[in-house]
Amino acid sequence: MATATAIAHPNIALIKYWGDLIPELHIPANGSISMNLEALCTHTKVSFDQALQHDDLVLNGKSMQGEAHNRVSNFLGRVRNLAGLSLFARVESENNFPMAAGIASSASGFAALALAASKAAGLELDEAELSRLARSGSGSACRSIPSGFVEWQAGHEDHDSHAHTIASANHWDLVDCIALVDREEKPISSSVGHALARTSPLQHARVVDTPRRLDICRTAILERDFNKLAQVIELDSNLMHAVMLTSTPPLIYWQPATLSIILAVQDWREEGLPVAYTIDAGPNVHLLCPAALQEQIVSRLQNLPGVRQVLTSHPGGPAVLDKPYASSESVSPAQNQA
Ligand code: PMV
Repeated sequence: MATATAIAHPNIALIKYWGDLIPELHIPANGSISMNLEALCTHTKVSFDQALQHDDLVLNGKSMQGEAHNRVSNFLGRVRNLAGLSLFARVESENNFPMAAGIASSASGFAALALAASKAAGLELDEAELSRLARSGSGSACRSIPSGFVEWQAGHEDHDSHAHTIASANHWDLVDCIALVDREEKPISSSVGHALARTSPLQHARVVDTPRRLDICRTAILERDFNKLAQVIELDSNLMHAVMLTSTPPLIYWQPATLSIILAVQDWREEGLPVAYTIDAGPNVHLLCPAALQEQIVSRLQNLPGVRQVLTSHPGGPAVLDKPYASSESVSPAQNQA
């Protein structure tokens, strides 16, 4: 039996990935930039075991079947192909954040799985190779492999579509205050959303303008220019949600409380507070602010109607191996990917 355990953080997209050039490979229509979320993590153990007759997935202590299991099993198939292995694996994965909170766990999930499964299979992948592998599970997972502030270069095919660090986690002490909003409607998966993106007449304009927004966002991060960052991330989030709203059928992730938070953030900025919003494929609103403002923003958020809970996180590090490699086979010891 060969086992490895890895930890990865989810990330919040500052410039969004929405729509694919090649859907099967998750080659995106545009590049994107994100920040890893240190306080949130997925912890995943993978064991290739000759006693198993099929792959097993246990998520937060619950044995999974159906769609979630198939996605993980297909992913393990790719790892087996790369390593020339035929053994099935048991995958045990836990998130330290509530799934019901509506924070996407697929990015940290597939990043941790890519690292743990490749190590357990005896592969020594570098950061770009791991990022590509994670991308094949869920596009945005490629950004949870490198550390800190990360850019995913869109590329055109499998080998040139991967992510790298543009600034380390300690480069800029920003905090993401995540306002969790009540959700009544069933979530629509991002894979369905990516496929709908091309039905919006706005998607082409959004994609064509992305290199400009990427440049502004990258520069704002490197220069720690909060105003520049605030303007570009709000524009980018609004553009993605404009595409969603104008897809056929339209995709509406916002709840009334989502809009109330957006309006509150506009008022707070007019008051002079450095705070900016961004929203992924759900109703929750991420508020970025300098760490010194965290307490004030959290308490203001808690006073808004419809805000159920507020989570906070500083920028996070890369996907890392958790425990030394444990194997009865003679494979070289694992090292952290720090
Ligand atoms: O990686 P996916 O397929 O879950 O897509 C992520 C989509 C967004 O979260 C809305 C944007 C992004 O860049 O993360």
